Amino acid sequence: MKLNTLLVTTFCGFIFVGCGGGSSSSENFGINQIALGEKLYHDTSLSKDKTMSCATCHVIDSAFVDPRPTNLSLGASLGDDLVSIGDRNAPTAAYAKFIPKFHFDSREGLFIGGQFLDGRATDLTEQAKGPFLNPVEMNMPDEASVIARVQENSEYVQAFKEIYGDDIFADTQKAYAALADTIAKFEKSDTFAPFSSKYDKALKGEEILTEQEVRGLALFNGKAECHACHPADGSKANFTDFSYDNLGVPVNHALRSANGKGADFIDNGLYENTQVNDKGLKGAFRVSTLRNIAVTGPYMHNGLFKDLATVVHFYNTRDVVGAINPETGAAWEKGEVEINKNSAELGNLKLTDEEEADLVAFLITLTDEEYEHLIP
Ligand code: HEC
Ligand code: HEC
Repeated sequence: MKLNTLLVTTFCGFIFVGCGGGSSSSENFGINQIALGEKLYHDTSLSKDKTMSCATCHVIDSAFVDPRPTNLSLGASLGDDLVSIGDRNAPTAAYAKFIPKFHFDSREGLFIGGQFLDGRATDLTEQAKGPFLNPVEMNMPDEASVIARVQENSEYVQAFKEIYGDDIFADTQKAYAALADTIAKFEKSDTFAPFSSKYDKALKGEEILTEQEVRGLALFNGKAECHACHPADGSKANFTDFSYDNLGVPVNHALRSANGKGADFIDNGLYENTQVNDKGLKGAFRVSTLRNIAVTGPYMHNGLFKDLATVVHFYNTRDVVGAINPETGAAWEKGEVEINKNSAELGNLKLTDEEEADLVAFLITLTDEEYEHLIP
């Protein structure tokens, strides 16, 4: 299709009823690509056993994480076969549209951005191609099988043809890219980025933070050093600089024995990304957004910590002799990848118990209004 036609079709796809395709269907997704993406995002028939969709692990009503018991107890999601368990905790899909494309910032000397915790998918469209074919997720054998499932639904077929051209199903790869593109369009909609938290309202002068929350914010931007990687810049801060760091997070043993990875397996994070060859980046993961953090546990790339307070205590006391992990009652274990761990900005922050509590109180203000009822 010529570029011109494509532009017109896409434009019609967004705005005009019946434009371009001239369809008479009552549920004409061609008129609304976001609605089509939303339907695909929730469609379990696109997984092998038809048990799961994107929405199973990124539930809109749960701030786009996985509220199922396996995730809450072990730290990772159950796959479509209801047996396989992954090795990483599903991050929120909210605010993911602000993650820049994966790139190396030569001025800073840092890898930045990319989807997945190791940045291996450059953007949302590339990301959306992954889960369908991942054996511990939607478990489909290949792209052609996914597209065959899409084609079982005549409404999808009609909408895809209207948006991407009549011959879209002639080329499996193009059809697969169209599927990913449509889901990414939905992920770029406002549903995924409400900016409706108490913090956002306080910035606009619509609400007032409590004294404890104000103290927490000051610690966040000062003594606790959180801002160094989770900057609170501007009215639409993402609370991440999208860089990568190794915090020395310990192994999640319970998860590793449940998912069969075994004791010797190591998740090297950014170093698992094929575009990265620097061994000095083993164990680094992308800095997480802290929006909705109070309701998106368990925490860290491997879902090791159940409580937000534990995460703060970890930053504060990881390197303090005699410090205790409140969730195990034992000393903090060493990091999964000790060799490159950051000891400059965390590990012994010298925060008091009250200051830790202040930080948690501040972090809770980053919860969007629609998720405030989920605050533990
Ligand atoms: C079985 C659970 C599961 C399913 C199903 C699933 N995801 Fe995920 N998702 C995850 C996990 C786990 C990660 C992190 C994986 C990694 O870093 O390697 C992730 C990462 C992501 C990210 C990147 C966020 C970030 O901060 O980097 C986005 C966006 C996303 N998923 C969207 C989707 C979409 C769209 C679908 C459907 C096509 C989907 N997911 C299906 C578990 C799931
Ligand atoms: C040196 C950079 C750095 C500093 C400083 C830092 N963080 Fe982080 N933060 C990260 C990285 C990287 C991750 C992801 C680590 C992982 O998953 O293994 C993360 C993850 C988190 C998570 C878990 C996110 C999730 O979705 O699981 C929370 C909560 C958090 N940080 C809060 C804080 C707080 C509070 C402070 C200040 C006390 C702080 N961070 C300081 C880099 C940093």
